[in-house]
Amino acid sequence: MGVDVGIIMGSQSDWPTMREAAAILDELGVSHEARIVSAHRTPDRLWDYGKSAVARGLKVIIAGAGGAAHLPGMMASKTRVPVIGVPIQTRALSGVDSLYSIVQMPKGFPVATMAIGGGANAGLMAAQILAMTDPALAARVDAWREALSASIPEEPSDD
Ligand code: RP5
Repeated sequence: MGVDVGIIMGSQSDWPTMREAAAILDELGVSHEARIVSAHRTPDRLWDYGKSAVARGLKVIIAGAGGAAHLPGMMASKTRVPVIGVPIQTRALSGVDSLYSIVQMPKGFPVATMAIGGGANAGLMAAQILAMTDPALAARVDAWREALSASIPEEPSDD
């Protein structure tokens, strides 16, 4: 039995951002895998991952990349499994390069692009997509959201 969510990233250096997606999915009980798949350094790995995604039963792919961030878009061109893109914050251009590389996809091949550094929201978005057809997961997502709301104080504190 395969996993529901594939978390892919261009480099080991993306993992601190992408593991936030993995942590949310762990918290919500969503099965996932994490792989380094670089559009530029390992293009054959990208192609194989995209080509086999449907057959392997993946339901959502979260793809993070930084700089010339072609991984999410190229993955979206290779599979109809929905791709959530995470622009990684970069040193030279603060992640605006990553955002622009990911967000402006041509008609026909969308990538659902998160904020720069938005690994956690990518995990939540994947869980919410899966929750539409999984009532038990939907209940866990609702509880997670309610707990977050309840943790926000009504008044600011000086501490
Ligand atoms: C991209 O280049 C990766 O997604 C990463 O964000 C960036 C830098 O990679 P490293 O030089 O740290 O391996 O492909």
